[in-house]
Amino acid sequence: SFLEMEVEQMNKGHYEHYMQKEIHEQPESLTTTMRGRLKHGGSCKAKTVLLGGLKDHIKTIRRSRRIVFIGCGTSYNAALAARPIIEELSGVPVTMEIASDLVDRQGPIYREDTAVFVSQSGETADTLLALEYALENGALCVGITNTVGSAIARKTHCGIHINAGCEIGVASTKAYTSQIVVMVMLALAIGDDAISSRARREAIIDGLFDLPNKVREVLKLDQEMKDLAKLLIAEQSLLVFGRGYNFATALEGALKVKEVSLMHSEGILAGEMKHGPLALVDENLPIIVIATRDACFSKQQSVIQQLHARKGRLIVVCSKGDATSVCPGGSCRVIEVPQVEDCLQPVVNVIPLQLLAYHLTVLRGYNVDQPRNLAKSVTTQ
Ligand code: G6P
Repeated sequence: SFLEMEVEQMNKGHYEHYMQKEIHEQPESLTTTMRGRLKHGGSCKAKTVLLGGLKDHIKTIRRSRRIVFIGCGTSYNAALAARPIIEELSGVPVTMEIASDLVDRQGPIYREDTAVFVSQSGETADTLLALEYALENGALCVGITNTVGSAIARKTHCGIHINAGCEIGVASTKAYTSQIVVMVMLALAIGDDAISSRARREAIIDGLFDLPNKVREVLKLDQEMKDLAKLLIAEQSLLVFGRGYNFATALEGALKVKEVSLMHSEGILAGEMKHGPLALVDENLPIIVIATRDACFSKQQSVIQQLHARKGRLIVVCSKGDATSVCPGGSCRVIEVPQVEDCLQPVVNVIPLQLLAYHLTVLRGYNVDQPRNLAKSVTTQ
């Protein structure tokens, strides 16, 4: 039964910590998130996505003047990861709002906007306040939450459940990857069915079907990430560079490291490197660069060259088989991950960083499931 399933999930099983369990169960949580929502398509039928909770609102969302994503912490990062594919498939401009900042500014929200509230718990105070504000301003409000019956699920006009299963570790892991998948499905649902984008849409749907397998594959990096954690255990700081689909991966990887391992870490948009961050680069500071294959690959190659020229201590996340293309002299440490459709790559790429954060924390002797000063759900302002 559902209850037994939930109780089963509350157990750590053979894992030592909830965060570890939740990282490793991502092939299953992603499968549950997609269950019943992807249609293979028959001989002459198109492959499609069905999101029951949105069915009466899809047209309104498609016609809205703008889509505004609103969230905090990891949920904000998930929306950032999905932003490019939503814009590409729907043609609707997407803007990003940290919930507290939207409320602080009383930023403009209009009737013609679709406001999408992303929240694992569905109870985050800042996100709820932003929701009340958007409702007052007449926007169509969509909820993306992992908690059936939560305040955000109840107060939005419509929504999509994440269905990642109960998440207990304070640092969000499996909810993050499932949130991205939900928003990629949203992109497919609101994108028009133009012949020109057919092949792209089908490739994404095929990629979604195969994603749990690719995640199973990337989880095999566990030991490699533990070895890397041993090398980094005494560091003061860690930078993570990403761009395009993986700007979000840089922010989320850095957030994981800082919140659980208590090591200072910053996610940096690689395109901004020359506008400040480059000053930090020397032979001591470890820098992770995400350089998997996508439209930004050659730009990331040149970022690596420039960091290398300043003797940066580089750790490069690249697609399988690309080690020599990203690191010609063999002077950096390389983490090879399976390649997937570009918009799904953030799901795969964040996993080694989740593993790194986990192992760093355990090796440094900190509480990985309940980091000091943090709460799973921030229900006060
Ligand atoms: C807290 C948690 C984070 C989470 C954020 C937003 O800070 O520690 O892991 O990302 O709240 O929570 P929500 O439930 O709205 O996704």
